Amino acid sequence: MMKIMKAQDYEHASRVVANFLAAQVLLKPDCILGLATGSTPLGAYQELVKRHKEGELSFAQVTTFNLDEYFGLPPEDERSYHYYMHYHFLDHLDIRQEQTHLPNGMAENLEAEPKRYDGLMHQAGQIDLQLLGIGLNGHIGFNEPGEIINDTHVVDLTETTIESNSRFFQRSEDVPRKAITMGIGTILRAKKIVMMVTGENKAKALKNTILGPITADVPATLLRLHSDFTIVADAEALSLVQDRLDLAEI
Ligand code: GLP
Repeated sequence: MMKIMKAQDYEHASRVVANFLAAQVLLKPDCILGLATGSTPLGAYQELVKRHKEGELSFAQVTTFNLDEYFGLPPEDERSYHYYMHYHFLDHLDIRQEQTHLPNGMAENLEAEPKRYDGLMHQAGQIDLQLLGIGLNGHIGFNEPGEIINDTHVVDLTETTIESNSRFFQRSEDVPRKAITMGIGTILRAKKIVMMVTGENKAKALKNTILGPITADVPATLLRLHSDFTIVADAEALSLVQDRLDLAEI
């Protein structure tokens, strides 16, 4: 079932998403979290770091698996998702670093890396809570429109994605063309999914996700097949569905 929570703005949405993650960690200290990158979850990560520093929240027993990683960027490259996760979140917690996982975009055998990553997830058990953002074209992780691939896999990024991620690189030619991502099946296997969507530029993707037909052409629509799927969005992102759904603010 899909639930939609309407927040006032980015800060509010960030606090709500932080609440989801914090509640999960409090209820099950040895939980497995599926984590996302991008600019959207930054506020939620900051809020969680704050709560940890204030002594409210311990991540000592938590395990994490990230959705995706670019191909060819080493972990010390500040544009890699490894760097992002450590810089913004993991390095500020009491989490055991060996319990934190991202696909290895520098794997010598790129074809073998998805299997290795799926193996690790399989060993760890079911993800309790998967956090997601959404791409402008409705992609989740790096599952681009058009094809459903269930397991972790190597993907050729679309021009839209390369273009929109080029803001983190000097030139769009510098954006990696390939990435490794959890598949749709991997994501749908999580017990609970929370997708955070903010800003006017995501309004169209969110409208398609909520009201459009369930199709591989908008990968986020497939999340509606999950039994515990919550969207936390701000008023701007919900602007194109507000009239149809008449959502009350939380
Ligand atoms: C990238 C990531 C996605 C993320 C998306 C949106 O493509 N692979 O996981 O959801 O960007 O990013 P942002 O939150 O910066 O809009």
